[in-house]
Amino acid sequence: MDSAVFTCEGVTMYAEDVLQRFLPYGERILITGCHGLLGQKLHRLLSPTNTVIGFDISPETMLSGPSFEYRLLDITKRNELIDAVIETAPRFIINTAAMTAVDRCENERDHCWRVNVLAVENLIRAAQKIKAHLIHISSDYVFDGTCPPYKETDVTKPLGFYGKSKLASENAIRGADVVHTIVRTQVLYGVARNIRLNFVNFIVGRLQEQGSIPIVTDQIGTPTLADDLATGIARIVQLQRQGIYHISGSESISRYDFARKIAVTFDEDPDRIEPIKTKDLNQASPRPADSSFSLDKIKVELLFYPRDVDRGLDEYKAQLRQLQEAPGGKSR
Ligand SMILES: NC(=O)c1ccc[n+]([C@@H]2O[C@H](COP(=O)([O-])OP(=O)(O)OC[C@H]3O[C@@H](n4cnc5c(N)ncnc54)[C@H](OP(=O)(O)O)[C@@H]3O)[C@@H](O)[C@H]2O)c1
Repeated sequence: MDSAVFTCEGVTMYAEDVLQRFLPYGERILITGCHGLLGQKLHRLLSPTNTVIGFDISPETMLSGPSFEYRLLDITKRNELIDAVIETAPRFIINTAAMTAVDRCENERDHCWRVNVLAVENLIRAAQKIKAHLIHISSDYVFDGTCPPYKETDVTKPLGFYGKSKLASENAIRGADVVHTIVRTQVLYGVARNIRLNFVNFIVGRLQEQGSIPIVTDQIGTPTLADDLATGIARIVQLQRQGIYHISGSESISRYDFARKIAVTFDEDPDRIEPIKTKDLNQASPRPADSSFSLDKIKVELLFYPRDVDRGLDEYKAQLRQLQEAPGGKSR
């Protein structure tokens, strides 16, 4: 197992297992975009031991908890946002809200900029007013994909508009007088209710239909189980770390090989995955060829060792089964 090991009173323990038991406690934490994949994972992890406030743009919430408060709040609305942040007074603001559909961002640039950049400027102002710690989620798409594995200090060079918007949001935060952490992640997958398509639920859905599934061999990355990302962010809260952190899964893999592993996990024939090249797809936005992350910093500073692809997919499958068996349980 790829984890730091130590012995305590004759018992061998993994640092990961020990830290897992020490989540933030008694904090007031605001999660923007709380109905998204990462937002739901953060709510699940943090709400049992903290007061969690969730903002999102749907009128009702499916989230609950003894000290959970939901507000319908569009973070692009500056005055409403600042008033709500002052009123709810969180110590930490975790911004997961974003326009995440990469090709839509290329075509709907105004909307993308409003949500991914101008709303982050609103959050900066709000955080400044109450001296909150702003934790912002960014992306591997700030890199051009030519020099992996990417460290936090590597030079950014986004290829598409989504990546440019994410880099602009990072720069706005880094240039402001606000306590902050920027967490870059990539290829997020996980089980949650009513979420957008991610790579894994897309492939699982396609496997239920007939025929081959064309997937690119020339886009490579380190896919991230959303539960692991949430754990890494919780640790940043707990340790009050500032700066930039790369949090992703631990294994670099092409989308094609990842899709084959998904097929195997779900007892389907991996040969149904058909190798194609990015140029065959005609995607609106260019993508980095290999934006795999180096995880050295989180291993040393957060003692955090995220899962590899096989362990991530096993967890995904187990959670999917659990959700489908739960009353009214249905996920994307
Ligand atoms: N998904 C990935 O592969 C990936 C990769 C790299 C980085 N990231 C970053 O990771 C973060 C979380 O991603 P995710 O996959 O969890 O995103 P997600 O599932 O799309 O969740 C985002 C949530 O924010 C909500 N939202 C959108 N605009 C809003 C607004 N103006 N005010 C308040 N809420 C708003 C969305 O509502 P609607 O669904 O109704 O729009 C959604 O519930 C994002 O910052 C994303 O850029 C994601």
